[in-house]
Amino acid sequence: MDAGMMAVQRSIPAAFDLAGWSRHHLDRVERALGQWVGEGAPAGLGEAMRYAVLDGGKRLRPLLVLAAYEAVHNGAGPTGSDTALRAGMDEATLRAGMDEAALRAACAVELIHAYSLVHDDMPCMDNDVLRRGKPTVHVQFGEAQALLAGDALQAFAFELLTPDDARIPPAVQATLCRQLARAAGSAGMAGGQAIDLASVGLALTQEQLRQMHRLKTGALLQASVMMGAACGGAGATAQKALEGYGAALGLAFQVVDDILDVVADSATLGKTAGKDAASDKPTYVSLLGLAPAQAHAQELLAQAQAALAASGLADTRALAALADMVVNRSY
Ligand code: IPE
Ligand code: IPE
Ligand code: MG
Ligand code: MG
Ligand code: MG
Repeated sequence: MDAGMMAVQRSIPAAFDLAGWSRHHLDRVERALGQWVGEGAPAGLGEAMRYAVLDGGKRLRPLLVLAAYEAVHNGAGPTGSDTALRAGMDEATLRAGMDEAALRAACAVELIHAYSLVHDDMPCMDNDVLRRGKPTVHVQFGEAQALLAGDALQAFAFELLTPDDARIPPAVQATLCRQLARAAGSAGMAGGQAIDLASVGLALTQEQLRQMHRLKTGALLQASVMMGAACGGAGATAQKALEGYGAALGLAFQVVDDILDVVADSATLGKTAGKDAASDKPTYVSLLGLAPAQAHAQELLAQAQAALAASGLADTRALAALADMVVNRSY
């Protein structure tokens, strides 16, 4: 083989088996959630919490946490400050602590997400009866129990991030809590949901719609990426690139959610299709039309991939494949 041929061969990226990669990680996440969620909760609350979280959902946010963690950790190894923080620990203990922090972060973001879905579906918000192919939590358990299940899931997310485990330094635990709290609160999901409710029947500008989507959905997806990066001890260049990746992917995710509400059916989605138009919600489809919204999602995908290329990380294939899945998914 001549040198030119070899160069061509080397430039072809190795195929990435997203399904195989996801299976392994999802298995860990499912086992952890199954073991932790609702344990010991009184008066039927645990049952409602488990119903909300287990057996359903794409688990995109946990996968993003773990993909970012791996990309950073495998690409760069522990940073100097990271190592200093954990002085006195051997390499294997250090690695086990980081792995545990990433798994806990993966489960914590899924708990916040699941809680946001429980509340989003309640009659006072979107009034939906179907979620993840099952009756919604308030339909199954009543409104008060759904409210409490959401509250308890949110609190438990932060408990999960703060274990009494010396392998995970307090500074890392605090960073993870701050990232998740910010993404879940008024500057993130809850703020975006407030804009969503206040926007029914309004014709938003594209900038206003982008802001609503960034907050209600994008913030938690971006936080998933950045929490994984924090567990891996990302340096400044990687952090900045992953922030850009998370922002583009987060917005793309909600643009596609708006599109699927129009083009997919309820059986495929596991939730009631056509709800946005029926509820007079402003969406990317109502603002731009279907084809331009689809084109915009592809533009955002290209932005996400460009950010990864600028990250300096050695292996971002899982993150790249997840972005592709987000934009080209059918449910
Ligand atoms: C749906 O999120 C709610 C939005 C933020 C748009 P997902 O589509 O990730 O829902 P699950 O977790 O797969 O059920
Ligand atoms: C919800 O957005 C975003 C959340 C914070 C839960 P949507 O209301 O569009 O989500 P779906 O379509 O009900 O899943
Ligand atoms: Mg909603
Ligand atoms: Mg909804
Ligand atoms: Mg929707």
